[in-house]
Amino acid sequence: MSTEDKAIPRSEYDRSTLMEDDAGNDPMMLFGRWFEAAQADGLPEPHAVALATMGPLTISCRMVLLQSFDKDGFVFYTNHNSRKALDLERDPRAALTFYWPAHERQIRIEGKAEHVTAETSDAYFRSRPRESRIGAWSSDQSRPVDDRDTLEQR
Ligand SMILES: Cc1cc2nc3c(=O)[nH]c(=O)nc-3n(C[C@H](O)[C@H](O)[C@H](O)COP(=O)(O)O)c2cc1C
Repeated sequence: MSTEDKAIPRSEYDRSTLMEDDAGNDPMMLFGRWFEAAQADGLPEPHAVALATMGPLTISCRMVLLQSFDKDGFVFYTNHNSRKALDLERDPRAALTFYWPAHERQIRIEGKAEHVTAETSDAYFRSRPRESRIGAWSSDQSRPVDDRDTLEQR
């Protein structure tokens, strides 16, 4: 295979334009409009967002799911002992990036992470399907597992 065959396909990104007038001056309103459009058009996982955190030695990044947002911020849930949670305990600075390829739109957010209240967090946990709750109980997120059997036994 020549290097030409392996070339990464180029996109034109000409499906929409962003004009100052359309953007307005309230970033949360713009986020709301774009997020709603992504949901309304049935884009795959419109609430999937990359979350970057500062570790002791490196910056790390992974996907999470946006559960809600309002003027105070963006809410996701994770295990308190996960690497991302421990990172954020040490250093609350975080960045989020949404990307909706079909709309050729990305949104970048930077800020400080805070805990939601215990009641909010408990209510979310109770709202999850039983299998997901069991999965969350039984796996130490971010930790190596001995093997698949051990995880399934737990
Ligand atoms: C689309 C997608 C959504 C995800 N959503 C979450 C989430 O909401 N919360 C979470 O803890 N992990 C979520 N994960 C798993 C994380 O990306 C990650 O693998 C895991 O949380 C461990 O990350 P950490 O070791 O950096 O803490 C998601 C993964 C994918 C691919």
